[in-house]
Amino acid sequence: MSDRIHTLSGYFHEYQKSVADPENFWAKIADSFHWKKRWDKTLDWNFEGPDVKWFLNGKLNITENILERHLYTMGDKPAIIWEPNEPGDPNRILTYMELYEEVCRFSNVLVEKGVEKGDKVIIYMPMVPEAAIAMLACARVGAVHSVVFAGFSSNALADRIEDCKAKVVLTSDGNFRGNKKIPVKSVVDEALENTDLVKTMIVYQRTGQEVTMKEGRDFWWHEVIEGKSKSHEAVEMDSEDELFILYTSGSTGKPKGVVHTCGGYMIYSKYTFENVFQYTPGDVYWCTADVGWITGHSYIVYGPLLTGATTIMFEGVPTYPNPGRFWEIIDKYKVNQFYTAPTAIRALQVHGTDPIAPYKLDSLKVLGSVGEPINEEAWHWYHTHIGKTRCPIVDTWWQTETGGIMVSPLAGITPNKPAFATLPLPGVQLAIMDPEGKELKGNSVEGNLCIKFPWPGMIRTTYGDHERCKQTYFSAYKGMYFTGDGVKRDHDGYYRILGRVDDVINVSGHRMGTAEVENAINEHPLVVESAVVGYPHKVKGQGIYAYVICDMSNRTEENLTNEIKASVTNIIGPIAKPDKIQIVPGLPKTRSGKIMRRILRKVAEGAMDNLGDTSTLLDPDVVDKIIAGRKE
Ligand code: PRX
Repeated sequence: MSDRIHTLSGYFHEYQKSVADPENFWAKIADSFHWKKRWDKTLDWNFEGPDVKWFLNGKLNITENILERHLYTMGDKPAIIWEPNEPGDPNRILTYMELYEEVCRFSNVLVEKGVEKGDKVIIYMPMVPEAAIAMLACARVGAVHSVVFAGFSSNALADRIEDCKAKVVLTSDGNFRGNKKIPVKSVVDEALENTDLVKTMIVYQRTGQEVTMKEGRDFWWHEVIEGKSKSHEAVEMDSEDELFILYTSGSTGKPKGVVHTCGGYMIYSKYTFENVFQYTPGDVYWCTADVGWITGHSYIVYGPLLTGATTIMFEGVPTYPNPGRFWEIIDKYKVNQFYTAPTAIRALQVHGTDPIAPYKLDSLKVLGSVGEPINEEAWHWYHTHIGKTRCPIVDTWWQTETGGIMVSPLAGITPNKPAFATLPLPGVQLAIMDPEGKELKGNSVEGNLCIKFPWPGMIRTTYGDHERCKQTYFSAYKGMYFTGDGVKRDHDGYYRILGRVDDVINVSGHRMGTAEVENAINEHPLVVESAVVGYPHKVKGQGIYAYVICDMSNRTEENLTNEIKASVTNIIGPIAKPDKIQIVPGLPKTRSGKIMRRILRKVAEGAMDNLGDTSTLLDPDVVDKIIAGRKE
C-alpha cells in the first residue's frame, strides 16, 4: 500500500527510475490503488496541444480509494479532526466510518437534487468538515466541484459561477473567524441576483444568523440529509474525467479555471503527501490552509485521506484568541506534521517567543512551508522555536496547476538548506531556461523554471478555454510547461525559487494578477487609469502598491483612496485590497504606450537610485513626480 521512500539513496534511485521509464514508474504506483477497471495505456501526451492523458481508459472513483479502501482496516480511526474557532467549544472527530456514512448521505442528497455526472457544483463554505464532505460527495456522484474561497466577494463568486455554469451551490449561513461573525449565504444571494443558472442551494447551519431562504431553491443541509441512506454506490469515472475546477489568477484580468482529472490527481496527491511528509500510520497531520486553495484540496483533503491519515481542519485564525493558538492546537492533538505558510510564520514571529513558551511542541516531527518563498530569517525562527532544531523543514514548491508538490525535501531524508526547496520529486523533470529559450544545464545557473515531461497531477486545461491554457503555459518555451517562476540552481544542484517573473504577485501566499486588481480599481467612476505592482512586505511577503490617475472631483486624497480600497474589496475580496495607493498625474509609458512597470516596481520598493534607462519614456518628467509623491 505504501510507496514511501526511506533513504536518500532510495530517493536518487527512484528519481532515476522515474526519468528512465516514467510510465512504468507511475504504473507501479498506480497499481496499489483500487481501480474499477485497470487502464489500458499509462500515458499519451504532447505539450503542443497540450494534450495529456494518464491511465487511459482506467475506471475508478477517488472516494472508494479514500473511504471503502480504509473502512475495514481503520474504520474507527479518526479521518478528520475539526478544531472550532472558539477554543472552548466542542471539537468534532470523524472516523473513516463516519466520514464514509456522511459522504454517502450527502451523495444521496445530491442525487435527489438532480445532480448528475459532469455537473458543476460550487462550494463556498467555511472550514467545517462539511466542506470536505461536500467535495467528496461531489466526487462520489461524478459531479465536478469548484471550491471558491469564502473570503471572495459576491462579484468574484458570480464570475466563477458563470464561467463554469454551476447548477448547485453549497454554502453556510455564516462563518466564525477570530472575533468576527461573517455573513456567507447573503454573499451567495447577491452573487445569484443576476443569474438563473443555479437551481439549488444547500445551506449548512454554522452560526445561526438570520438568512433568507428562497422557496424551492434553498434548503438547509440538516433537513435534506435527514433520513438519507448511509450507503451510496460510487459512480464509475474515467481517469481523465474532470474531478475539480479551481480558479486561480494569472497575468490577465480574468481568473482561470484550472482543471484536474480523477486518475492522475489521485495518484499524485497521495504519492507526494506520503513521501514529502513521511507520514506513517498513526501520525496526526495538520495543514493550516483553507480548502478554498489548492493546498487545502491536495493536502487537507485528498492526499491525507487517500493515505488513511488523520487530518486536522481548523476553522479559526492563528492569532485568535491569542498568537499561541497554533501551538496550543499542536499540543492538544499531538500533531506530528505541521504545514503552514511563510506569511503565517512571519505574522507570529512579530509576537516574539512568549506565546510559544507554555507549549511543549514535542510531538512535532516535520514542519512544512508553502505558498511563497520563505526568507531565511523566518526559516530559522520556524526551525529553532517551533521545530526546536529537531524537525526537518519541507519547503514545498508547487502551484494550483501542478496539483501537488513538485520540488521539496523529503522530510528527514533530503538534507535541508534554508530557503531552498531543494530537489525535484521523482517524476518531476525540471529545466531552467534563459530568455532566448535555451536550457541552462549544469549547476550555478539562474533562469525561468520549466517542466519538460508530464506528471500525473498536472493541469489538463483551463475550463472552457483550452487555447488560454496553451498560451499561458505551453507557448513561452516550445515543448515545455512554463511555471511563471524564476529559479536558481546552486553549486550543489539545489533549487531556490526566486518568485514570479510575470505580472502575478503573491500576497500572503495568495496569488493575484496585477491586471485583476487594476480592473477592480478602474471600476471606480473617478479612476482614469491605474497600474499595480508588488513590493516587499515584512509580513505578507509582497504587498500591493497601486498608482492611480484620477479625477479628484472635490474628494480628498484620503476619501478617494478609501473608496478605491472599498471598491476592490467589493469586487474581488479583502485579500486584493491595495496596501498603498498613490494618486499620480501620469504613468511612465513608452512611446508605444506600454507602461514601464519596472520603474513602478523600483519606486514602490524604494530603489530610486536604480531606475535604469528612462530615456525611452514619452514623458520622463512623470517619474520625478511619482518619486516625489511616493508612499512610504
Ligand atoms: O510563485 C510560486 C509560489 O506560489 C505560486 C503558486 O501559487 P498557487 O497556485 O496559489 O499555489 C500556492 C500553493 C501551492 C508559485 O508559482 N510558491 C508556492 N510555493 C512556493 C512558492 N514560491 C517559493 N517557494 C515555495 N515553496
